[in-house]
Amino acid sequence: MRLSPLTPDFGYEVHDLDLGSSISNADADALQAAFAKGHMLLLRNQQALSDAGHADFASLFGPVTEEYLDGSKVAWVTNRPNTKTTVPGEAGLHWHSDYSFTEWPLRGISLQAMELSGKSAATRFASTARAWAALPQALQAELEPLEVLHLADFSGASAELGVPTDRFDDEPDQELYPHKWHPLKMPHPRTGEPLLFANEFLSIRLGGVPREKSRALLQAIWPILYDPAHVYEHDWREGDLLIWDNFALQHGRDDFTPEPGEPSPVRVLRRVSLGADYERMVQSVPRLAGALAAM
Ligand SMILES: [Fe+2]
Repeated sequence: MRLSPLTPDFGYEVHDLDLGSSISNADADALQAAFAKGHMLLLRNQQALSDAGHADFASLFGPVTEEYLDGSKVAWVTNRPNTKTTVPGEAGLHWHSDYSFTEWPLRGISLQAMELSGKSAATRFASTARAWAALPQALQAELEPLEVLHLADFSGASAELGVPTDRFDDEPDQELYPHKWHPLKMPHPRTGEPLLFANEFLSIRLGGVPREKSRALLQAIWPILYDPAHVYEHDWREGDLLIWDNFALQHGRDDFTPEPGEPSPVRVLRRVSLGADYERMVQSVPRLAGALAAM
């Protein structure tokens, strides 16, 4: 097995490792160290793993989360929906970390490309670790003591989950608008590395400063966090297996709805997630299970 940097800022590509065979202890140690340091691993040309094989590999990097109350440990990100589809359709997704509006953001997410055809969308990634380090010192000092409100809109008022607006009160209704205040300078839960834990999709306001100031500070953050020079765009190929740290990296994608009359592309990605307590999360966000099932 061999590792090479995936981007100058984060990630490693893993070469000469077949996930269909057992992984030696030495390789497992090296993979875990690379994941802790680089926050993302890419393995190309892998055979289609079984659901259990995918979950087994992901479990090298943390506890695998149930995706549904029936205990299922896989979900699907696909425009060919089935009963376990978590992220449906072809619409774009703004930058986010999964479940950052709860106390239990996922620790990690792994996707394997099972079926692809036509022109779908790349998944893009930005590093919250790089962004914190890249902030000008004066801005770092200003942001360090602040908290940030992450919120998703489950009211049905918006077609999207999550509304990038600060129109809500400090403590909106938890069932309709599940939300969580997080430290803006988030220590990584495993390594303590400082992360800029705000995202464009779900982070609606900074606490402890007037609204105008909150807006201005968020507008100062986004161009640093999403600087195109430091974004990685992953163009999916069948057999790709990607795993990333959901605290240290954010993700999003462009809309890939076909033009009228054009054939729809096929994009079937299997997902295995790390680290959240799904049952507690559904108790805290009762509309989550319903919203996912309805998709
Ligand atoms: Fe996501």
